[in-house]
Amino acid sequence: MSILVTGGAGYIGSHTCVELLNAGHEIVIVDNFSNSKPESLKRITELTKKEYKFYEVDLLDASELEKVFSENEIDAVIHFAGLKAVGESVEIPLHYYYNNITGTLVLCEVMKKYNVKRLVFSSSATVYGMPEQVPISEHFPLSATNPYGRSKLVIEEILGDLYISDPEWSIVLLRYFNPIGAHSSGRIGEDPNGIPNNLMPYITQVAIGKLTELYVFGNDYPTIDGTGVRDYIHVVDLANGHIAAIQKVLESTGFNTYNLGTGRGYSVLELVSAFQNVSGQKIPFKIVERRSGDIAICYADATKAKDELGWVAKRGIEEMCGDSWKWQKQNPLGYESQKESLVGRNH
Ligand code: NAD
Ligand code: WQD
Repeated sequence: MSILVTGGAGYIGSHTCVELLNAGHEIVIVDNFSNSKPESLKRITELTKKEYKFYEVDLLDASELEKVFSENEIDAVIHFAGLKAVGESVEIPLHYYYNNITGTLVLCEVMKKYNVKRLVFSSSATVYGMPEQVPISEHFPLSATNPYGRSKLVIEEILGDLYISDPEWSIVLLRYFNPIGAHSSGRIGEDPNGIPNNLMPYITQVAIGKLTELYVFGNDYPTIDGTGVRDYIHVVDLANGHIAAIQKVLESTGFNTYNLGTGRGYSVLELVSAFQNVSGQKIPFKIVERRSGDIAICYADATKAKDELGWVAKRGIEEMCGDSWKWQKQNPLGYESQKESLVGRNH
């Protein structure tokens, strides 16, 4: 009786695996390391002192994936595996559609073949496109502004069709807002390749001295200080949302969608200020042009998850900043070799 976690070596997946193991679940992880490192799996073991099975498998490889289902008693699947960089998705859309959509189709075909019909899927607040108002509820209109977002939207629709075709399925779509933070041990965290696209890893890399200054994308939005507002959510809260969701799919059939956010927005400059206070590090920044495709304000109405899953985000912005900083400080090169440690560098 195991939960299969696709993409379990990644940022959100690794934190969710820790929470699943700590909650007493047996897990099997599948990942192709296209955007993660084997070291994250070692750290899951280190943190939980629990065992689990791992398969280095690409979801696009149906026969390898079948082996995972034939060798294990899988009850349910949490499906994180996917590519997630918005800018890259504009440059190589076919790769994004193929990996994300075909990967999900292959997974669902194999699940169907092995009569495993319980699925939790990683969707994103990006499916709300340019929302007309906030807070954003699950029933708001959906749209996509880039191939990454469109891949999520298409997968949501495919899973809806799958449920219509066979109501024995139990499917939960989780729409994440902006995950940041790390495990409180500082042993697992977000390890982006190259220069980070997202705000928090960019801030922590400025703090550690890998990057010189933060570029703030626009200060003329209709917000508290002109900079973009987002619903940042601690990754461990997000991971715990999956524990609640897996309970839901194990207990009942149905097709349900939940926002996972805190319900509160912070501007770029508010986040920078909170980070500076918690870390004691100065973050030099420069205001530059707006980034194309960005929206002004985005935060969740997360009451449905509270009412139906009994889940709420508990960790505040200081804890998010403190844990992101701890991870970066302890792992200046991410999961790469720790030899060239930058800790202690003057900046
Ligand atoms: P991540 O890149 O850290 O993790 C994704 C994992 O999936 C990686 O370990 C990668 O190697 C693996 N993977 C990708 N394609 C695969 C394939 N074909 N076969 C096997 N493994 C494959 O990303 P994350 O931040 O942990 O995000 C997890 C999921 O949540 C993704 O689906 C992402 O789109 C979604 N999401 C992320 C965010 C965010 O801001 N991080 C927000 C909303 C939604
Ligand atoms: C947050 C705010 C930027 C970087 C993205 C994806 C979304 C989801 C989460 C997966 C914005 C500003 C950022 C920087 C800045 N991922 N910013 N300087 O854009 O809300 O969401 O990640 O599903 O789909 O689009 O997150 O962290 O990139 O930006 O000023 O160097 O920080 O303009 O206001 P975003 P982000």
